[in-house]
Amino acid sequence: MKNGILLGKRGIIFGALNDKSIAWKVAEKAVEEGAQITISNTAMACRMGEVKALAEKLNCELIQADATNYAELVNVFEKSQEILGGKIDFVLHSIGMSPNVRKAIPYDDINYDFMNKTIDISALSFHKMLSAAKKTDVMNEYGSILALTYIAGERAFVGYSDMADAKAMLQSITRNFGYIFGKERKVRVNTISQSPTMTTAGTGIKGMSSIFDYADKLSPLGNATADDCANYCVMMFSDYTRKVTMQNLYHDGGFSTMGMSAEVMEIYDKGVGLEK
Ligand code: NAI
Repeated sequence: MKNGILLGKRGIIFGALNDKSIAWKVAEKAVEEGAQITISNTAMACRMGEVKALAEKLNCELIQADATNYAELVNVFEKSQEILGGKIDFVLHSIGMSPNVRKAIPYDDINYDFMNKTIDISALSFHKMLSAAKKTDVMNEYGSILALTYIAGERAFVGYSDMADAKAMLQSITRNFGYIFGKERKVRVNTISQSPTMTTAGTGIKGMSSIFDYADKLSPLGNATADDCANYCVMMFSDYTRKVTMQNLYHDGGFSTMGMSAEVMEIYDKGVGLEK
C-alpha cells in the first residue's frame, strides 16, 4: 500500500524491538507512505542488533531513551527536530511492560514496587512524552500523537493483571492531556485499542494463546494483525483524520461490540455436550 499519505511529514516511533513489534510495522509503513522518521527505544533494546538493523534499513536515526526519564524524552524530541529539519507531525507511543505479568504474580497478591514500575513504563511515560513534546514546542499544528492500548483497560480480562490498570490510566491521560494539547496547540492525542497480537509483550501475558484464539473467533473480521494496526496508525497520522482527538479507537475486528458468535457457541456446545 503506497499512497504517499505521509509525504513531507516528520515523525518519531517509540517501541520497535523486533520485527514482531507493532511499532516496527508502523515505522516501515510510515516510511513507505513518504514520512521521514526517527526511532527510539531503551539502551538495552538499542544494543540489540535488530533495532539497529531497522534504523539502517529505513535510513533513520536511532535515539536512545528510557521513556520513564523526562530529560531523555526531551532529548528525543529536540534531536528529532534537528535531524528531521523541522517540527514533528506524528509520534507513536508503543511501550508497555509489567514485571508482575512477566513473573506471573497473581493480581490479588501483587508486588507494589513492580506495580509502580508497570504504571511508570506503560502509562506515566505517555504523560511525560506529551508534556516533553508540549514544553519543547516541537509539534506542528494538527500533529497526531498515538498510544497503543488494550480493551482490558475497560473490561476485566483474566491474566492481564496490573497492565489493565496501566491501560485505564493511559486512556485517561489521552483524554485529559488531549484536551489541553488540542486547545492550546491544535495537537491530536488518541489511543488505538488493538486486538491481541503475538509480539514479545503480547506473548508474555499468561494464557495469551487462549485470549488470542477467543478474540479471533468472537470477532466477525477476526483479529487485527500488527500490519493492519500499522495501516490504521498511518491513517491516524495523516491529514485525513485532522479532527479526531481524545478518542479510544477500537481496532479489533469488531471484538469490542460482540457478546457471542457462532464460532464460540459451537465450541462451547461441543465442550459441554450440548450439540443438537
Ligand atoms: P513489544 O514487546 O514488541 O513492544 C514493547 C516495547 O516497549 C519494546 O520495544 C520495549 O523495548 C519497550 N519498552 C519497555 N520498557 C520501556 C521503557 N522504559 N522505555 C522505552 N521503551 C520501553 O510488544 P508490542 O505488542 O508491539 O507492544 C506495543 C504496545 O502495544 C504496548 O503498549 C502494548 O501494551 C500494546 N498492545 C499490545 C497488544 C498485544 O497483544 N501485543 C494488544 C494491545 C495493545
